[in-house]
Amino acid sequence: MKGVILAGGLGTRLSPLTKITNKHLLPIYNKPMIFYPIQTLVDAGVRDLLIVTGGNNAGDFLRLLGNGSAFHLPHINYTYQEGEGGIADALRLAEHFADGEKIVVMLGDNVIEKDIRAGVAAFRKQKRGARVYVKQVANPRAYGVAEMRGDRIVGIVEKPARPKSNLAVIGIYMYDPSVFEIIHTLKPSGRGELEITDVNNAYIKRGQLAFDVLDGWWADAGASHEKLLETSLLVAQREGVSFSVSRGKA
Ligand code: G1P
Repeated sequence: MKGVILAGGLGTRLSPLTKITNKHLLPIYNKPMIFYPIQTLVDAGVRDLLIVTGGNNAGDFLRLLGNGSAFHLPHINYTYQEGEGGIADALRLAEHFADGEKIVVMLGDNVIEKDIRAGVAAFRKQKRGARVYVKQVANPRAYGVAEMRGDRIVGIVEKPARPKSNLAVIGIYMYDPSVFEIIHTLKPSGRGELEITDVNNAYIKRGQLAFDVLDGWWADAGASHEKLLETSLLVAQREGVSFSVSRGKA
């Protein structure tokens, strides 16, 4: 299985930090944000990776990651997204790379506490369709939200005003090769983007969307300045760093 990390966009929610660099290169504790999704895929045994980036600082990804020696990879693939077409538009650029294989897609600003080994192993055995991860969250309005009937997801709504559950569909998606046919049928949403939620709803219509509940915490580090800070603190805590904030003391 191949892996695709989506790291384009202008990161306007994190302005002014993103005026001079790409959101996915900002620090999370002691590493650039993109290190975390790369490590998650490598740990799940997915070693053939494509990074989709964009914007003004795309060259910095090459300088930072090169051929992936920090992850003991022999090679990394890169491609460039023109403009701000959305997550599914960025994924469209992976069609040539995927070359008919199944893929695991991870958003470059998603950081998780644990791993996705079980989900990836289950998807390796899954004959067709897609597989997503859901996680219970306090503020579902900020995410794609799953509507459940029994133990099935019957629909996903992107950033709903009135969420039908508190289960966010997080930024880790597994797809069979038909994902690219689906993307070619999509129309831009109200915000002018090709939505990954529309891709997942197409699989639901076909009765082909499986899911797992993510174990451990999940952070959408690029969602806001607060989330960016919180993700650093979560990672530092996971690494066993102890710190306290004291006023005026060195
Ligand atoms: C995107 C997706 C959303 C998903 C989220 C996870 O939203 O559109 O469905 O829940 O990523 O991080 P964004 O954060 O790009 O607005």
